[in-house]
Amino acid sequence: MTESVVVSQKSKIAVIGAGLMGHGIAQVFALAGHDVTITDSHKTTLEGAKARISTNLRDLGDDPGAVDRVRPVADLGDCVRNADYVVEAILEDMPLKQRTFAEIERHVRPDTILASNTSVMPITEIMKGLQRRERALGTHWWNPPFLVPLVEVIGTQWTSPGVVAFTMKLHADAGKTPAHVKKDVPGFIGNRLQHALWREAVSLVERGICDAETVDDVIKAAFGRRLAVLGPLENADLVGTDLTLAIHQTVLPDIDHRPGPSPYLEKLVADGKLGFKSGEGFRKWSPEQQAALRARVVRHLKKAREADK
Ligand SMILES: NC(=O)c1ccc[n+]([C@@H]2O[C@H](COP(=O)([O-])OP(=O)(O)OC[C@H]3O[C@@H](n4cnc5c(N)ncnc54)[C@H](O)[C@@H]3O)[C@@H](O)[C@H]2O)c1
Repeated sequence: MTESVVVSQKSKIAVIGAGLMGHGIAQVFALAGHDVTITDSHKTTLEGAKARISTNLRDLGDDPGAVDRVRPVADLGDCVRNADYVVEAILEDMPLKQRTFAEIERHVRPDTILASNTSVMPITEIMKGLQRRERALGTHWWNPPFLVPLVEVIGTQWTSPGVVAFTMKLHADAGKTPAHVKKDVPGFIGNRLQHALWREAVSLVERGICDAETVDDVIKAAFGRRLAVLGPLENADLVGTDLTLAIHQTVLPDIDHRPGPSPYLEKLVADGKLGFKSGEGFRKWSPEQQAALRARVVRHLKKAREADK
């Protein structure tokens, strides 16, 4: 299917929401040569979008001229009117997203593709009120959009295969790594895997097996080192499915499989230990430690992007 899909090298792309994710998504599409319109209900955010993109492009050593292909537009209808493809990155609020897509659909062509960048909300729920549900899907980017390659492409029961194929190719051509999520399940693929790991990480601390710092150290110094080049199922094949089965028979019964969040996590939140926001979560964080951790992550992601080139 994908091979037969034609994606114009210069599509008209509209991005709704110019916040953390929206401005970065606009940047990626503009860098790939598309004409991008962008809107935001917050005037100052919209006005600052091009400057933010320019700073990112300079910082990453990407073509600074790409910002000229981004056009901020105050009115939502004007932003989407001629678009081939619309991606929404507004607040994570279901009624707001539903209202926004209803409004978008009033202004676009019948064949314009509509995507939501929701982190966790069911795409089915967001898109259920549309006139043409076959053109709608989810595209879950990861932060920062211009440094993390993955974009999960989530179809609903209504999404046409051609729309999925177009969207996969659009993102692949823009240098992203699209992954097709065939069923609209909570957390899609990436966040299900990530939070399966986090659940056990919390449980290890809760059960007194180690402290929070040790959990993170173990991951970073062991399989975290390999994860970027060796996925778990590749790894299972590498060591053998028979060995994997034997390990699962011993370990899985003891791994946390409670259906809800850990009481330990609930207590942290109840005690106001909210992480960076309050200076303490699983661990204590000074402003300097917070800044150092953020800088370390960005440095690492930039190096990985360079290595990909
Ligand atoms: N931050 C992340 O790491 C991340 C990762 C993946 C997906 N997401 C998802 O992406 C979406 C955006 O997240 P974000 O982190 O960029 O949030 P953000 O708060 O930085 O940006 C949202 C923007 O939407 C604007 N907005 C609100 N209502 C609007 C409307 N009706 N029309 C136009 N603009 C409107 C706001 O003014 C704001 O600038 C959310 O659905 C979020 O869950 C976020």
